Amino acid sequence: MTLKNLLLLGQGSDLQSERGVSCTGELPEPSDPTLIERARIARAALGDRALILGHHYQRDEVIEFADITGDSFKLAQSAAAQSSAEFIIFCGVHFMAESADILTSKKQQVILPDLAAGCSMADMATANQVQHCWEQLAQAGVADVTIPVTYMNSSAAIKSFTGEHGGTICTSSNAQSAMAWALTQGEKILFLPDQHLGRNTAVLALGYSLDDCVLWNPWKPMGGLTVEEIRAAKIILWRGHCSVHGRFSIDSVNDIRQRVPGVKVLVHPECQHEVVCAADEVGSTEMIIRTVANSPAGSKWAIGTELNLVSRLARTHPDKEIYFLDKDVCYCSTMNRIDLPHLVWAMESLVKGHIVNVIEVDSTVASYSKLALERMLAL
Ligand code: 13P
Ligand code: SF4
Repeated sequence: MTLKNLLLLGQGSDLQSERGVSCTGELPEPSDPTLIERARIARAALGDRALILGHHYQRDEVIEFADITGDSFKLAQSAAAQSSAEFIIFCGVHFMAESADILTSKKQQVILPDLAAGCSMADMATANQVQHCWEQLAQAGVADVTIPVTYMNSSAAIKSFTGEHGGTICTSSNAQSAMAWALTQGEKILFLPDQHLGRNTAVLALGYSLDDCVLWNPWKPMGGLTVEEIRAAKIILWRGHCSVHGRFSIDSVNDIRQRVPGVKVLVHPECQHEVVCAADEVGSTEMIIRTVANSPAGSKWAIGTELNLVSRLARTHPDKEIYFLDKDVCYCSTMNRIDLPHLVWAMESLVKGHIVNVIEVDSTVASYSKLALERMLAL
């Protein structure tokens, strides 16, 4: 079976999907002993023409070549602040590269080394579903007083919907200020697509109760809710989640506390509410890194986020005890698609003048998405 058949549901054939299609190029073999040297040569040849951005969940072999590493907020800021590089090579996932394209100038091109690096959470809300939800909220008489707050982990089409309807984008590092801002603009929030980030922020940071939140199921008429429930709710949460962070459980929190006396539990806000409630600290990938770095030698941390980041923290902080908060391996499979062979292939192609894997958001979609992203950057 060819990879083309294997990815029949990729964006090439299914326009509802945020995910792209796989690489069509001649990738170097992962076992090529000259791969690191090839990467260095291609990087040097590109010089200032290229800027490489790397999300914290990327593999070490990729992070090694990143000019800037960050969480999704910092990378969006870095892309927006960058006006000179001709190419932004985005080592992260599709929605992040789309945001970088929206925030950079028309002269700059954003390259995603593997187009199949999507995000399963972003795929849990399609533009049609969101539009249909909005029509139903209008039928319930609440669309006029509802402000969409959309997590960065969403397609450009949904960011555009958000901008058009007076809403803002947020990331895990500014969800609190984004939601607080939205409630100065309207009476209710439609938070999408991550129910956990929305619920954790509404309840733990903004002081709402679980009863103020309702869950919108896009597969059911009226989201599976009654008109009364919709009218009474303060926060309407989209039924989406991250399959990586969804794995961390309350059992693992209890287990690690029992096995490692004095351990502190540090989790990403995409984890389930009960896990976040049982943790000591919660925050974005950037906050997780900062917290571990600022803790004294001998500190013990059990961390609930993607494994590439947790193992890097363990390696870079040998004076601290770092534990992974899951019993099994928990990589983000789509983040992991960007590896050294893809990065080398993308860089060598650019050196040869062959521009590959360009992420280009349609200009109508880009204009409202930009509005929503700029609202976030101004928060
Ligand atoms: P950050 O915003 O913390 O970088 O997280 C992005 C992400 O995809 C987490 O799953
Ligand atoms: Fe998407 Fe989860 Fe991977 Fe983040 S960790 S990119 S939310 S699938």
